[in-house]
Amino acid sequence: MRRKLVAGNWKMNGSADSIRGLLQGIREGAAAVAGVELAVFPPFVYLGLVEQQLSGTPIAWGTQNLSEHAAGAYTGEVAGPMLCDFHCAYVIVGHSERRTLYGESDQIVARKFAAARKAGLKPILCVGETLAEREQGVTEAVVERQLEAVLDLEGIGAFADAVIAYEPVWAIGTGRNATPQQAQDVHAFIRSKLADLDPTVASQTRILYGGSMKAANAAELLAMPDIDGGLVGGASLEAKEFLAIAKAGC
Ligand code: 13P
Repeated sequence: MRRKLVAGNWKMNGSADSIRGLLQGIREGAAAVAGVELAVFPPFVYLGLVEQQLSGTPIAWGTQNLSEHAAGAYTGEVAGPMLCDFHCAYVIVGHSERRTLYGESDQIVARKFAAARKAGLKPILCVGETLAEREQGVTEAVVERQLEAVLDLEGIGAFADAVIAYEPVWAIGTGRNATPQQAQDVHAFIRSKLADLDPTVASQTRILYGGSMKAANAAELLAMPDIDGGLVGGASLEAKEFLAIAKAGC
């Protein structure tokens, strides 16, 4: 059985004060959604605060990005081993905002995935098509290409404890979520690609949906057989809404 994971990608939002309040709310409500694993992804600079607030709770944390390198002259970058100092469990790699705004290629994303694993972190690999790609009917080809870059470098075994997040770009921050069936179709496709290589790993890998997920649409998305949780952006910035999404997955 795959335990559902509801992960909050805070993106570049929050302040020390707002994060203290948000985490307090999540901590208070976590027991009521214990059937689901919770994780939060703050901006790097708040990692110490998050660790301090969440240590000893069942809530996990991680970051939204990492360097593909382990150390060295890479001004402005943050390396996997540094994240381990703050006891991160996960790290997001290949978010569409990183791919489009910061030019991260499939190969860079694959190297970041490898760097995360090398540091002992569980990568959450984001994949997903743009609206133009969906309209051209190449959704599966795009997702397969993004997945294959990582499989080529790291192999199927690397997915045993990794997480995949399907995030259609046209659904991110737009208020327009994929329908449960649209998401399920791509999730099933991703799992079938993994199963071609190793059915056991495929049956264990959690595949999250991301893109305008909120309390009002979470239950029907999370009811689909291959949707194992959510990677939530905007709706993760309010404890009540984030917990309501998790509740829908219990
Ligand atoms: P929204 O939930 O704000 O659409 O963002 C989704 C996302 O990008 C999570 O990584």
